[in-house]
Amino acid sequence: MKIASDPASLAENLKTLRRAGKRIGFVPTMGNLHDGHLSLVDYANTCCDAVVVSIFVNPKQFGPSEDLDGYPRTLDADLAQLASRDAAMVFTPTVDGIYPEGVNAHTTVSVPGLTDVLCGASRPGHFDGVSTVVCKLLNMVAPDVAVFGQKDLQQLLLIQKMVKDLAIATQIVGMPTARADDGLALSSRNGYLSVSERATAPILYKTLQAISAKILAGDRHFKALCASGRKTLEQAGFAVDYLEVRRCNDLATATASDEHVAVFGAAKLGNTRLIDNIQLDLLESPAP
Ligand code: PAF
Repeated sequence: MKIASDPASLAENLKTLRRAGKRIGFVPTMGNLHDGHLSLVDYANTCCDAVVVSIFVNPKQFGPSEDLDGYPRTLDADLAQLASRDAAMVFTPTVDGIYPEGVNAHTTVSVPGLTDVLCGASRPGHFDGVSTVVCKLLNMVAPDVAVFGQKDLQQLLLIQKMVKDLAIATQIVGMPTARADDGLALSSRNGYLSVSERATAPILYKTLQAISAKILAGDRHFKALCASGRKTLEQAGFAVDYLEVRRCNDLATATASDEHVAVFGAAKLGNTRLIDNIQLDLLESPAP
């Protein structure tokens, strides 16, 4: 497994892979890898000849009072896991390597429409930071396929739109959320949870499941369902940011006639912000 810590050695190593005719898969990450990330690498290995993984904690997507400094950095363990999963190359740029003139002097890529709601409403600037770095990484790696997790569904949708709008020639694939046995979506931020918060955390997914079951049974009173789910979460000790049913194509508030929706939740336990979602195909389960 090659390790490239600057854009020039990334380009050099990519040249070798391309000359050998390799189909390249790409998994961008911020490190502190867990089974969710590794499932993306495994998938990329099934449809590509060489998988490149980036590890870069992107300052542009963190707000001023967010956890940039404390974000877990576990490079040695990450590299060992990636070697065991057959990654061909790991790109570990510095902040200067990505933003040579400084984070604020860099061109911003901004995807309209999908970024003001849900996580975008409570994390201003976050998605501009994500689209900017993902656009740059896609340009640097120029992969055939890039793989993202569906846990960050809003992020996945905006990357799909960005790639289409900017004619970036990479196929974007979303993979199902990897979960712990008790249902909690795997996330690097789960490591922040205390023992008692960790025991409470699966209630977020259970609440999304309960709402989803009612919708699949024909209930389309989305607001009432979410209000009741919000109460369940608050009683369990969560500070709820949002709990909403939205359309998957444009993230507009869902209506009773929509066919592809998702139940989205974000809530804090102590200082840890957890997000999750469940996508629902309602074509097969129309309202009664
Ligand atoms: O999902 C993440 O880990 C990050 O948002 C990403 C896509 C690697 C961009 O920094």
